[in-house]
Formats: sequence, C-alpha cells, structure tokens
Amino acid sequence: MRRLAAGNWKMNGTAADLAEVAALTAAHPAPGCEMLLCPPATLIDRMARAAHGTALRIGGQDCHARATGAHTGDVSAPMLAEAGASYVILGHSERRADHGETDAQVCAKAEAAWASGLVAVVCVGETEAERDAGQALAVVGRQVEGSVPEGATAENIVIAYEPVWAIGTGRTPTLHEIAEVHRFLRAELVSRFGAAAKGIRLLYGGSVKPSNAAEIFATPEVNGALVGGASLKAADFGAIVAAL
Ligand code: G3P
Repeated sequence: MRRLAAGNWKMNGTAADLAEVAALTAAHPAPGCEMLLCPPATLIDRMARAAHGTALRIGGQDCHARATGAHTGDVSAPMLAEAGASYVILGHSERRADHGETDAQVCAKAEAAWASGLVAVVCVGETEAERDAGQALAVVGRQVEGSVPEGATAENIVIAYEPVWAIGTGRTPTLHEIAEVHRFLRAELVSRFGAAAKGIRLLYGGSVKPSNAAEIFATPEVNGALVGGASLKAADFGAIVAAL
C-alpha cells in the first residue's frame, strides 16, 4: 500500500509561502509513498506549477457537488482539477462545524470529485463529548457509512480519522485508541466494499508532528497522516514525510 503524508494548509498561505514548496520538493518520500499538500484554492494553480515533475501532489480542501452554477464563493471539482489538483479533502470537521456539512453532502461531493478524476480524502472523527460518552466508534461508523459513496476503491478514496478534540490542540489519542478506530474503520470498509477495501488508505490526523509521526505510522492500520499546523513549514512536514 502507498503510504500518504498529506498536508492541509487550511486558511493559511499566500504567494510568499510558495518558498516552502520549493524546499519540500527537494524531499523524497520513501519508494511507494506519496506526499500531498492542500493549500487554499487561491494557491493551487501556482503550487501545482511549482510541484510539476516532482513527487509532491496537490489537492483542494473542499469542492461543490455541482460542476457549475449559481453558488457564490464555491469551487467545483473540475475547477480544482484544471488548476492542477489530483486530490480533494472533503468533510473536514471544520467544514462540518462551520458550514453545517452533512454526511449526505460530503457523499455527493465525493461523487463530484470522482467525476473529475480527483481522489477524495473523506474526513471523519468524534468530538470530545462523543468520545467521553463512549460513542467514538458509533460516530465514525455513521460518518463513514453516510459520507463514502458506493464505488469506493483503493484508488479513488482515502479516509482520514481526525478526532475533533485532537485538531490543533497538541493532544492526541493513545496509540491504542488510534489503532482501535482504524481497525474498526477497516472492518466497516471491508464489510461494505469487500476485500479490495483492505487497500484503502486510512490516515490519522490531529496534532501530528515530527516528534510523534513515527510511532503513529507504526500503529496498526495507519497508512499515513493528514497534517495541519505542522504541514506549513517544509522542515516539519519534510520530517513527517521522512517518517512514513
Ligand atoms: O486536516 C488536518 C487537521 O485537521 C489536523 O490539524 O493542526 O492538529 O495537525 P493539526
């Protein structure tokens, strides 16, 4: 399986930050591993040009379910593809919280992504209250069931487990807790899509940094990471890529 280190720049980055990309393209993931950066939509085209011919792939952070239309402020999957993206993050907890995105909407967006040849990185994860109530597996199970369309394969989808309480907080679940959720997600995917779903990459996200990346990558059923803050600087993200 191709491991994947994905960086989500969120609403950070201007042209000046493209220098980080130049530094990052000098980094080489281990053979068979992939490196992805998802900048704000305004930087996709320039970042894709800067990364052309290197091991770095570029992705969007969201797309609309429709290809065109009266949707002020939105970006469609064909637009992302034309700008040079090959992946798109969908259903991030910040989109679910800030924009009220539902599982059904995320599912429709994933189908739109596929129609434009993009790999959908679908995010799931429980809140702290849900974990404290013993609901973590039920919540991610419901999210993955509702957000992942029929027809998911190892080539067209990546699932990112991002516990909401671990995002940007410096807190992470124990390795045992990460393994428990990832094993559960793998079983759900295999039960729905068959043995081929063993090849679907499961990323962990939430306060991944150079100092904890190696142990997280060594955790069963963890096939990479979705990294926020530590993806903004090439030195940090390059160290995480090196730990793949
Ligand atoms: O999508 C990645 C993200 O939500 C994790 O953010 O800053 O905790 O690595 P961070």
